[in-house]
Amino acid sequence: MKAEADPNLIVYFNGDYVPLREARVGILTHALHYGTGVFEGIRGYWDDAEHQLFVFRPLEHYERWKQNCGILRIDVPASAEELCAITLELTRRNALRTDVYVRPLAYKSAERIGVSTDSQDGFALIALPFGEYLHSEQGLHAGVSAWRRLEDNAIPARAKICGAYVNSALATDDAKRSGFDEAIFLNESGHVAEGATCNLFMVRKGALITPPSTENVLEGITRAAVSELARRELGIETVERPIDRSELYICDELFLTGTAVGVAPVVRVDHRPVVHGEIGAITRQVRRLYFEAARGHLPGYRKWLRPVYPSPAEARELSLAGTAVG
Ligand SMILES: Cc1ncc(COP(=O)(O)O)c(C=O)c1O
Repeated sequence: MKAEADPNLIVYFNGDYVPLREARVGILTHALHYGTGVFEGIRGYWDDAEHQLFVFRPLEHYERWKQNCGILRIDVPASAEELCAITLELTRRNALRTDVYVRPLAYKSAERIGVSTDSQDGFALIALPFGEYLHSEQGLHAGVSAWRRLEDNAIPARAKICGAYVNSALATDDAKRSGFDEAIFLNESGHVAEGATCNLFMVRKGALITPPSTENVLEGITRAAVSELARRELGIETVERPIDRSELYICDELFLTGTAVGVAPVVRVDHRPVVHGEIGAITRQVRRLYFEAARGHLPGYRKWLRPVYPSPAEARELSLAGTAVG
């Protein structure tokens, strides 16, 4: 994964496809000073066998994004379907044939001093090559953070509000400096909320357990996908209930879910092994199912994916149509 994006990358900005180097905002932009933006994170998975790039659940991401923009009264003047179409066009224009990450960002765009908001909004979509976010194959060491998760009536954690990610950045910085791979947040009630950039599941006595969305967590799309895969493919229901910190130390398995992390096993928490410090059987199965679904290998879940490029049959038809006309 490259640290810096290519300045010639084509991005969608102010209603147009332009090179990244031309997509600029002014230094007085409201969102830059006050964090008044809402972003999303969407993955596309390249499948070598099919020579295809599959974008994972973009419609659900754009529906969530538009809903959450509403919390900040930011208007995105395109439907979720139109945003899906722009995303696919963007990946094609950049000829991306690898795993990708798509970053939609909507923001308060007025250039002036003053925290009060108005109706000047902007949005951009960026699609770029993106590999692993956390190296989780062997399992992660997570640490419970001293920073508490934001409360819904301070800054809602269910929306990916730019300013709210100061909370995640502080916890992540602390976690990395203390030698952990990821931070786990408790909320103000002392219950486990989620990771700094992901949702959390634990396994106890064969049951999958995750905190409910009222515990100040993002309503994760990977979380929903994992629950559905576990129920339909493994016959395991997900129980939504508050989780105590000490349950993390005695649970049978633990894993994190999110667009960036995928399904990431946790094998140690706060220097304590999860059972024997090995990846558990349910975690292994859920992780395999998730990545198979995301790369288009599970026919029952192709409905989650939007292919970017025409299939060989579609490409033949297009070229025949081109010959007929031309
Ligand atoms: C704080 C937080 N929780 C959970 C998630 C997982 O959400 P999703 O699966 O929709 O990517 C993310 C990442 O997007 C996140 O930033």
